[in-house]
Amino acid sequence: MNVKTLGLLGTGVIGGGWAARAIHCGINVIAADFDPTMEKWLRDSIDNSRQALSQLTEGIPLPPPGKLEFTTNPLEMAEKSDFIQESVSEIEELKTKALLPVSEVARPEVVISSSTSGFLPTDLQKDLKHPERFIVGHPFNPVYLCPLVEIVGGKLTSEEAKDIAREFYEDIGMQVLMVNREVPAHIANRLQEAMWREILHMLNEGMATTRELDESIVYGPGLRWAVMGMNQLYMMAGGDGGARKFMEKFGPTLTMPWCNMDGPELTEDLLDKFEFGTNQQAKGKTVRELEVIRDECMVAIQKVLAKHDFASGKTLNAFRARKEKQWR
Ligand SMILES: NC(=O)c1ccc[n+]([C@@H]2O[C@H](COP(=O)([O-])OP(=O)(O)OC[C@H]3O[C@@H](n4cnc5c(N)ncnc54)[C@H](O)[C@@H]3O)[C@@H](O)[C@H]2O)c1
Repeated sequence: MNVKTLGLLGTGVIGGGWAARAIHCGINVIAADFDPTMEKWLRDSIDNSRQALSQLTEGIPLPPPGKLEFTTNPLEMAEKSDFIQESVSEIEELKTKALLPVSEVARPEVVISSSTSGFLPTDLQKDLKHPERFIVGHPFNPVYLCPLVEIVGGKLTSEEAKDIAREFYEDIGMQVLMVNREVPAHIANRLQEAMWREILHMLNEGMATTRELDESIVYGPGLRWAVMGMNQLYMMAGGDGGARKFMEKFGPTLTMPWCNMDGPELTEDLLDKFEFGTNQQAKGKTVRELEVIRDECMVAIQKVLAKHDFASGKTLNAFRARKEKQWR
């Protein structure tokens, strides 16, 4: 299916990121949010992402940017869309209520995808009209620079809907991870959550500050995670003996008290520590200023990886090859 118009339901941080990526790739966007003040926010966030997106796709032949239309009426959006991406707040009831009328108006062949961070597609699709075209398409922030999207089907989802979603996401430069079994929080968020809970425990119990916790990632494992994942890296840490040798060396730690898995209670004291610590780390920079630094570095990392045709750089090279075939 050729997606000419992407419909967005919810235009916050994630909806804004989808809009920026799609428009940059020449797709028209009709964005619906029940809060009319979000139009300005959305237009600003698209403007803010333009420079990083242009740098990332420098030299890649792309059609002229798509156009943006904003509406407070989700049904108008549903009527005009060839593919719908829902990104309303992470409340299950709110999502199912918002999706139902959209599914009643959208053409039956239009795929409806949810950006949900953790809900199961089977739960979200059960009352929808044509539930077989419903999937989860879970992205990462910033959506315009992070290529990963996890596609998860529910019990009623058709293979065709997943294929259409894959084709569309690859067409806007994304790396599709087909999640074969639906579980709460899919794959990547389960991993992030395990680490996040441990971070909050350590902060809560005064073992480390937000700065120390972040430095332990940025100067250490974070640097290698853009290149390889934990399994491949740990196999290498086994030396010539590989995976088995690694487990021989570090397997015994799995039974030691090295981490907590239950999240701590969110007390005011913990919230204060998180807020105070991260504000200190920001050294007076606004979120927008921090985003510019983050974006420039994320672009540079992906360009270096592209030279090695590795990890997200390989996705960028595949996007270039696809667009060269389409537009040259
Ligand atoms: N923030 C992240 O890092 C992240 C990453 C991946 C996925 N997600 C998921 O994406 C979704 C959106 O997250 P976000 O961070 O952009 O949230 P957000 O709060 O920034 O934006 C949600 C938007 O949805 C709008 N909205 C709420 N109910 C609506 C309705 N019924 N109709 C139309 N608009 C409605 C709100 O006005 C708001 O603008 C959530 O499901 C979240 O779990 C978030």
